Amino acid sequence: MHFSRASIALPIWLFCSTVQSDLIYVASSSKNITTLSLTYEYFASTNPDIYVEDGYFAGFAPEKKYSLSVVDTFKTPAASPAWITLNKHNNILYLVDGVTAGNGSLTAYRTSSKNATGPPVELDSVECLLDGAYAGFYPNGKGLAVAHYTSSALHIYDITASNGTILPLETFTCTMSSPGPAYPRGPYLLAVDLGADKVRQYIINMETLLLDERPALNATPGSGARHGVFTKDPIMFPDGVASYVFYLAAEIAGTITAYRVTYLTNRGGLQFDLLPNGTYSSLELGTPQPDTGGKGITGELLISPDGEFLIASNRRDKKFNGTATQYPPDGQSDSISTFRIRQDLAGRLDFVQSAAAGGYISRTMNLNSAGNLAVIGTQEGNRLAVLERDLGSGLFKKQVADAYVEGDIWGVLWNDYNDI
Ligand SMILES: *[C@@H]1O[C@H](CO)[C@@H](O)[C@H](O)[C@H]1NC(C)=O
Ligand SMILES: *[C@@H]1O[C@H](CO)[C@@H](O)[C@H](O)[C@H]1NC(C)=O
Ligand SMILES: *[C@@H]1O[C@H](CO)[C@@H](O)[C@H](O)[C@H]1NC(C)=O
Ligand SMILES: *[C@@H]1O[C@H](CO)[C@@H](O)[C@H](O)[C@H]1NC(C)=O
Ligand SMILES: *[C@@H]1O[C@H](CO)[C@@H](O)[C@H](O)[C@H]1NC(C)=O
Ligand SMILES: *[C@@H]1O[C@H](CO)[C@@H](O)[C@H](O)[C@H]1NC(C)=O
Repeated sequence: MHFSRASIALPIWLFCSTVQSDLIYVASSSKNITTLSLTYEYFASTNPDIYVEDGYFAGFAPEKKYSLSVVDTFKTPAASPAWITLNKHNNILYLVDGVTAGNGSLTAYRTSSKNATGPPVELDSVECLLDGAYAGFYPNGKGLAVAHYTSSALHIYDITASNGTILPLETFTCTMSSPGPAYPRGPYLLAVDLGADKVRQYIINMETLLLDERPALNATPGSGARHGVFTKDPIMFPDGVASYVFYLAAEIAGTITAYRVTYLTNRGGLQFDLLPNGTYSSLELGTPQPDTGGKGITGELLISPDGEFLIASNRRDKKFNGTATQYPPDGQSDSISTFRIRQDLAGRLDFVQSAAAGGYISRTMNLNSAGNLAVIGTQEGNRLAVLERDLGSGLFKKQVADAYVEGDIWGVLWNDYNDI
């Protein structure tokens, strides 16, 4: 018997609705972590959009209804929760304290279940230096490197214990600044030093998790090097050698700079070669830099899960106008820029879109693991905005949910990794 393509393709959401939910954690100046649940429901619709596959009618586009609500808020040992990150190897959540006086804290939590039946459970908390800004895992989730801003240090921890115990290892003091480590596959840990406009690099001892410094990458003096990301995979260059490309955001210059990465022999470190014409504005192509009085523009960088796009959050560019409800606090929204990473042109960035971040000072953002939803935290609007994102084109679509959170938002984390 022969079935047509169309009858095979009829999607189940024509017949029933499905509900899914993810958790979003927010670190804010409220001293609390806020847990939100994003619920989305797909159901048969009256939507006139139709799906066509292989030239056949394949059904009506599903209608999606989103709802974002606070399910839990709990007090943390941090006076200023600044950054949260999830160790995907064991589902332990770490909170970095951005407090600017006295000592800070680093706290580990077992995350709540996906259905949000309980709050995260504190496993361990250690005292540390003040003004933590960022934390990154190194290798395979066994070590944690925390960058401290005004205390100018990189502190490393052994987090191998499955009970969440945090074991301090070593502190590197320098003009280290916000916000810190990134790493490629391989034995190196990188830490972006904003004060010195350097990307410091360290080779990791895989046994002890201790670090040994290698020559730094010198960024443009005064540019405000803030955050870096690597391409997901190496990219083929015209000389026939495939290399990772490292993109470095500089917040004062408002730029993203692309470097070709070469692994030096004898564990000598990574060599960074600036790509020709490899410096891009993090704002929409052709947009003048806003006058920010010397304050930072470029915020965070993300690589989309498919490795095809680079996403940059911008601060203080106020590119979009709306109402105060739409874009708190004053009706103006900063922008999120999307660039296509040209795999065929040695990692060149092609500007694709400038999208409204949903408020003022879009400091932090995160994607779900599929990459079709983004959450953006606006620091001064105290607002989370959830945007749909198209996987093929990389374009952000409409804002589908938002929520108010107590305190200036410094870190957001999308948790849909509870299936371990
Ligand atoms: C922080 O969490 C506690 C519960 O742990 C709650 O009583 C308090 O209202 C929260 N504070 C804010 C600012 O949300
Ligand atoms: C929620 O998740 C927990 C732990 O995974 C499970 O024991 C519980 O049955 C779930 N509850 C619902 C209502 O699905
Ligand atoms: C607490 O702060 C003091 C002063 O900055 C510092 O010397 C000390 O190392 C800090 N304690 C820890 C555990 O980092
Ligand atoms: C946690 O695990 C470590 C290493 O396995 C062990 O040394 C430590 O005693 C444990 N701590 C607690 C509180 O169980
Ligand atoms: C860099 O830009 C200049 C000026 O637009 C252009 O002439 C040159 O071909 C570009 N080089 C590369 C490698 O794209
Ligand atoms: C937003 O509105 C203000 C006040 O009307 C105006 O001055 C500004 O040019 C607008 N900005 C944009 C990006 O449209």
